[in-house]
Amino acid sequence: MIGRLNHVAIVVPDLEAASAVYRNTLGAEVSEAVDEPDHGVTTVFITLPNTKIELLAPLGEDSPVAAFLERNPSGGMHHVCYEVEDIIAARDQIVAEGARVIGNGEPKIGAHGKPVLFLHPKDFCGTLVEIEQV
Ligand code: CO
Repeated sequence: MIGRLNHVAIVVPDLEAASAVYRNTLGAEVSEAVDEPDHGVTTVFITLPNTKIELLAPLGEDSPVAAFLERNPSGGMHHVCYEVEDIIAARDQIVAEGARVIGNGEPKIGAHGKPVLFLHPKDFCGTLVEIEQV
């Protein structure tokens, strides 16, 4: 069911410092920072030949990544995102298999303008999984 790895998301305390690490130390193609007030994050996209890395920093008061940063002050891997062709069919199969979708189960429009769902890390090997319809 799942297809390509769309991105790996890493939460960081300092986007500018993290961008410099990827741009200078690792020699990657790094975008400008983009505020996404609807999602409570500021994002930087790193384009690799086969996938993307998203650097996420909290934006605003009740950012969904603020608690993660409190537990991981120097940052850390936050989630992986797999592509699916049909997010409703994917959700239904996941739920039928006994795994949990976070929230009310209805896809939201994610940072790339595509429908996404997040899956419970306890059902996926301790990793927060995002699925995105492409
Ligand atoms: Co993501």
